[in-house]
Amino acid sequence: MTGLVHHFPDQAAAAERLAAALGSAARPIALRSFPDGESLVRVNPAPGTALVYCPLDQPDTRLVRLLLAISALRDGGAERVVLVAPYLGYMRQDVAFNPGEAVSQRVIGQMLATACDALVTVDPHLHRTPSLADVVPGIVAVNVAAAPVIAEAIAGLVTPETILVGPDGESRPWVEAVARPLGLDVLVGEKVRHGDRQVEIVLPASARAAGRPALLVDDLISSGGTLRECARLLTAAGARIVGAAATHCLASDADLAALAAAGIAPVMATDSVVGPAATIPLAAALAAAIRQAGLS
Ligand code: R5P
Repeated sequence: MTGLVHHFPDQAAAAERLAAALGSAARPIALRSFPDGESLVRVNPAPGTALVYCPLDQPDTRLVRLLLAISALRDGGAERVVLVAPYLGYMRQDVAFNPGEAVSQRVIGQMLATACDALVTVDPHLHRTPSLADVVPGIVAVNVAAAPVIAEAIAGLVTPETILVGPDGESRPWVEAVARPLGLDVLVGEKVRHGDRQVEIVLPASARAAGRPALLVDDLISSGGTLRECARLLTAAGARIVGAAATHCLASDADLAALAAAGIAPVMATDSVVGPAATIPLAAALAAAIRQAGLS
């Protein structure tokens, strides 16, 4: 029997879509916050496999609640716990960039590997770590690529003239994977980050975008500063921005408004993180990967 999909209250819509795609059912995890900030969770226990749908944006809050829920599921008879975390936070700090810093990716990965039997995620930010299996040692690790669903979602927005633009070298694999099925041209820049919200981008071949529709592609939109700077350079080069597409969008309402003010519209992302940009459902791709890995 396919495992139930357990989820926290704010993830009901995406968890229900996943459960439907798996031919299973969703079960809410009840959550209560005490006045001192502690959380109490209550699950609907069931034997067999428990799928826990919990994207790890806002990870400092979600991780504790997740660990509590997994423990309760195991206490209630779950023999196998599969974490479905379409967005996996803390992946960017994969080395100590400065003396004394924690290697957050390693810490969080080991914590998840201890708690779960398998992890399913989407386009984790693994630029220096060879594979997801290295992040969560000893458990099954499934990395789902969002490019096919993003390509399908933007198909109606682009024409053969459209150029897909990645702001930096790290975005290249995503831009190329989205462009390939659509047969589109690609332009990739170089970025230097000076601070959380300060980036410098060079688009050496920006002349190729002149007079053409340009759609920005990245794995992650956080503050949106990267896309705004990229759009500024493209506009200066004579391109017409027709939108942006990313796997994950963490941007606040204010940052989304700034993207719109910079002429970047629509901003589309998968539903890995709840928010106004999350218009591309991942349920079918997640369900296919879960079934293929024998995790349902
Ligand atoms: C960086 O390597 C990522 O691919 C994104 O470009 C970056 O995280 C975006 O951040 P922000 O939106 O804050 O500029």
